[in-house]
Amino acid sequence: MLKTVTTVSAMRELIRFFRSQGQSIGFVPTMGFLHEGHASLIQRAAAENHCVVVSVFVNPLQFGPAEDFDRYPRDPEQDRRVCEAAFLSAKGQSFADIPPAESRLVLFRPGVEELYENGFCTAVTMEGPAQGLCGASRPGHFSGVCTVVAKLFNIVAPHRAYFGQKDAQQLAVITRMVKDLNWDIAIVSCPTIRESGGVAMSSRNACLTEKERTAASCLRRALLAAEELLRRGEQDAAAVEAAMAGIIQEEPLAVPDYISVVDAENLSPVRTIEAPVLCALAVRIGNTRLIDNIIWRVNETVTA
Ligand code: PAJ
Repeated sequence: MLKTVTTVSAMRELIRFFRSQGQSIGFVPTMGFLHEGHASLIQRAAAENHCVVVSVFVNPLQFGPAEDFDRYPRDPEQDRRVCEAAFLSAKGQSFADIPPAESRLVLFRPGVEELYENGFCTAVTMEGPAQGLCGASRPGHFSGVCTVVAKLFNIVAPHRAYFGQKDAQQLAVITRMVKDLNWDIAIVSCPTIRESGGVAMSSRNACLTEKERTAASCLRRALLAAEELLRRGEQDAAAVEAAMAGIIQEEPLAVPDYISVVDAENLSPVRTIEAPVLCALAVRIGNTRLIDNIIWRVNETVTA
């Protein structure tokens, strides 16, 4: 059965117990309003570990003052259902079928005061991969992400942590942080899960009107155009960016934030495409900011 925990001390106690039994712990940090994208991470964590911890915490530190912290969608009941269904789809038909030592699913749902006590004043900051793309248009965002993920890693002490390729820059930043700060945690990258029309699943899609949902498909169309150009051998990053921008421009409800082709490893700008690149874009559709990306490896298939 799923166990819900809201305090750091109760979470630590459970982790101590799991570890004392020699069990592996897979961790999926989220901000809730779980969908099939999150579910794919939970399934993978359940397939690869004895125990799975899913955190749900809408982290105020990673939202700018004019951003959507208050509007961010929340649905604890749906989160519970998605967690259980994803865990069971990897482990067995029902909790009764799974050996007790394998049926350990924990939902960690701390309140803001639990993680940020009065007087909290420490932050993890990063240069390098945290600087461009979303880091440029959302100052402080990745410091907020790194700070909360660092805290969660210290509390949950997982063996493996699962992150989506959909947030490619976040994945690169967390990978770098774990390396730089010597955490003994494997960061597992999971492919982007899309809706049937190709739009990347996101909790923020719930904020879109019907018209905006249709408009949101321009992100995927722009990435497919980039992929087509790359497949035909285009090596000029600016030409690929221009083709993507052309498609976004055709959509009247879309306002681009950035459209970039960068090095897939360190996210630095590239001019000539010779090594793997990340084609990434952030586009505002009405009041909602959406991101998506593909990775292109010369002579290889496109990821997600
Ligand atoms: P959130 O947006 O809830 O995403 C949680 C995890 O789910 C991230 O690793 C994200 O990349 C992954 N994810 C979201 N949509 C996905 C999709 N369509 N396909 C595959 N994976 C997807 O990312 C955050 O929360 C926060 O920044 C967090 C890391 C929890 C720190 O607060």
